[in-house]
Amino acid sequence: MTSTQNLAQPAGTTELLQAVSRYLGRDVAPEWRRAGEAAPRHRFLPHRIWLSDDDALEPCDREHDPDRWFAAAYADEPVVTQINDGQEPDDPDDAWPSSSASAPSIVFQMLELLDLTAGMRVLEIGAGTGFNAALLAHRLGDVNVTTIEIDPVVADLARANLKSNGYAPAVVCGDGSLGWGAEAPYDRVVATCSVKRVPYSWIRQTRPGGVILAPWYDEWICGGLLRLTVGDDGTATGRYTPDSAFMLMRTQRRDLLLFRDVVMDDHVPAESSTTLDPWAVADSAFETQFALGHRLVDLWYAWHHDPDVEGVKTRLWVATTGGGSWAAVDWDGTENAERYTVWQHGPRRLWNEVEAAHQWWLDNGRPGPARLGLTVTPEGHRAWLDDPANAWPLP
Ligand SMILES: C[S@@+](CC[C@H](N)C(=O)[O-])C[C@H]1O[C@@H](n2cnc3c(N)ncnc32)[C@H](O)[C@@H]1O
Repeated sequence: MTSTQNLAQPAGTTELLQAVSRYLGRDVAPEWRRAGEAAPRHRFLPHRIWLSDDDALEPCDREHDPDRWFAAAYADEPVVTQINDGQEPDDPDDAWPSSSASAPSIVFQMLELLDLTAGMRVLEIGAGTGFNAALLAHRLGDVNVTTIEIDPVVADLARANLKSNGYAPAVVCGDGSLGWGAEAPYDRVVATCSVKRVPYSWIRQTRPGGVILAPWYDEWICGGLLRLTVGDDGTATGRYTPDSAFMLMRTQRRDLLLFRDVVMDDHVPAESSTTLDPWAVADSAFETQFALGHRLVDLWYAWHHDPDVEGVKTRLWVATTGGGSWAAVDWDGTENAERYTVWQHGPRRLWNEVEAAHQWWLDNGRPGPARLGLTVTPEGHRAWLDDPANAWPLP
């Protein structure tokens, strides 16, 4: 067994920063390298973490399995530090991540995207382990950093980790969707949980010319980093980079199940057929799904393989997030199928919407995240293609 002393040393940090440089395709900027060297990652992890094993999350205790624990601390991977909002599930298979130390490569990528200069004031949403706040505090000084965390146990952990590593930025326990007005205005607001909609309070609390950086979450597919610049007219606009998936902000979660909330026994769906391959829109390339997600308002999907239905090998379900409308598209198992059976129920004809969105995507040269953008105003969100003038509302 490797001694914890050996693995706990900066060699882990050096290798980790090399892995981040490989990911970025260039050296980590010197100011961030120095911040990283001053914040060995293992010092921010709790004694119990959870690691992915196939699709399940498995606990790993520093005391019982130090080799695995330290290897996780210095791998360029996210490390789950809390599951199920701190409530142990009865069935370990029901574990899902509710707090984590993000993958270092994405942490440093986001820090660089913030384009910070000395004296800037930053609000971080999602303190988690406090690791990112430590890097920010190293660069900007404690007084210029505020981090907000919704979970009281996690907020305490972040505060303690920061203190034991010599940092003291303000750690607030609260709902980050409200921002934190007491320290506003900020030059930068950075979220380390994803958002379906950018809370307007963040724009109100950022000075004109300031930047908001937030991972994007779409019901259709989660991913993409949104970088908005705040204007002096109360709006913010910007583009995406196509990276990373973050856990959704707690206050924007929705708990919806297909057979509990959406598809009811007394529904009588309309039948039709389609030539659009369901795999072309769901489980297709991230770039495709990302664009479709910006056209398909409030829709999510789920696959059902081998449902107990005669003549159906695989069924794609599509539903509104409110659960009022749904569609199912059936593949009968034949190779190179040219037609699929469609069932639709509710006031919205969802498969027709999916077909229209896919056609829009084809007609516009198959755009990916780099061609899409978002403008946020007090009235709401507008997505756009290539130019803010070419926009449509995202209700
Ligand atoms: C990926 S973790 C953050 C990682 C963290 N920045 C670090 O360096 O370890 C996301 C965090 O966001 C927190 N969070 C989720 N919803 C929130 C909300 N509405 N307000 C504040 N924090 C929230 C979660 O509890 C979780 O700790």
